[in-house]
Amino acid sequence: MGGTQDGKGNSDAEAARKAAEALAYSSGFGNEHASEAVPGALPVGRNSPQRAPLGLYAEQLSGSAFTEPRHHNRRSWLYRIRPSAAHPPFYRIDSRHLRSAPFTESVPDPNRLRWSPLPVPQEPTDFLDGLVTVGGNGDVLQRSGIGIHWYAANRSMTDRIFSDADGELLIVPQRGGLLLRTEFGLLRAEPGHIALIPRGVRFRVELLDADARGYVCENYGQPFRLPDLGPIGANGLANARDFLAPVAAYEDREGPVEVVNKFGGNLWTAAYDHSPLDVVAWHGNYLPYVYDLHRFNVIGSISYDHPDPSIFTVLTSPTDTPGLAGVDFVVFAPRWLVGEDTFRPPYFHRNVMSEFMGLVEGAYDAKAEGFVPGGSSLHNMMSAHGPDRETFDKASAAELKPQKVDDGLAFMFETRWPVVPTAQALHADHRQQDYDAVWQGLERHFRA
Ligand SMILES: [Fe+2]
Repeated sequence: MGGTQDGKGNSDAEAARKAAEALAYSSGFGNEHASEAVPGALPVGRNSPQRAPLGLYAEQLSGSAFTEPRHHNRRSWLYRIRPSAAHPPFYRIDSRHLRSAPFTESVPDPNRLRWSPLPVPQEPTDFLDGLVTVGGNGDVLQRSGIGIHWYAANRSMTDRIFSDADGELLIVPQRGGLLLRTEFGLLRAEPGHIALIPRGVRFRVELLDADARGYVCENYGQPFRLPDLGPIGANGLANARDFLAPVAAYEDREGPVEVVNKFGGNLWTAAYDHSPLDVVAWHGNYLPYVYDLHRFNVIGSISYDHPDPSIFTVLTSPTDTPGLAGVDFVVFAPRWLVGEDTFRPPYFHRNVMSEFMGLVEGAYDAKAEGFVPGGSSLHNMMSAHGPDRETFDKASAAELKPQKVDDGLAFMFETRWPVVPTAQALHADHRQQDYDAVWQGLERHFRA
């Protein structure tokens, strides 16, 4: 891989890869997990005994109100070397290229937008410094909406740790693997995987390769969950058993550690005298996960027509209105197309929902050119889009034998509110100013 890298960076990546190759996981999504890095660290029969085992401190971390219905209720109990409460004050620091909702610096724009990949930085840049906000909607203080970010990094986070009080982070690596050291243990996320870090969970990102690039959906709203399956039945789409949670692993580390907290749209920092990744045991259902998108069970038409892309929903963040997601995470994974008398690529459409797309690998079947791995597009509420001319011409004339679409992995953050781009995204050098041209050559074929 390219990008700048020195000897230290490479040896960091080697150490991270060694740690990543030995990982164990616990499988399942949203269920109760339990893990202890030292036998006997988990209390038996109660959450908060008078004295927790091994001299640990007990702490509850909640991701839902105490009183939410049981099937929405998320919390974990952590047993740690020091209580989280033992920290000095936080001080506000510069947010660099990170922005938050409400997004007011640009006028909402009806145009279709597309970007080439964010360039990999030349200066030493870790995951946190490498976050560049594309846009978003809602309001962090109302816990609604999303922030959409790119990231590009060439350094591991070493003596600093991040947590995001504003939202859950859905990380979509596109280039370079990541080792996520979290309070709950270690996770490995390679391109083609996603990682979910719940709101408020502390973590550090180490690179498994010389550099890394990808996308992040910062979900301010309700935590992502698996969508209901309705008539599909008890199985299918993303199967719960394919989500992997970490097993407990802790750092017993003294010395200065910077902890950066995103809160209310700003970054705040505190100098801890120890690593807060010191959780020796935990149990609960509020925890991070990784998921390999290649495991997605793609369901589609076996008769005619391209189904609405909601059939490709991996995870959904519902709102108070049933069926209307704050954000859906949707994947366009390898699949067979067999529809008879059917225009098989995604159809022309205008949607009330707003769509941010990215491409992890290969090609996307509605765009012949210009949408490349690492690239992005934004089709906002009611904007007209669909196949480009080349794709339209080809698909309209194609012989309709069964066809495997097996060379791409694209995804979409689809949200109920329009996405307001940031000024830095609108004026970025890697924005493609000529995107509209892909639909300009579509000729009239009408004959009365
Ligand atoms: Fe679309």
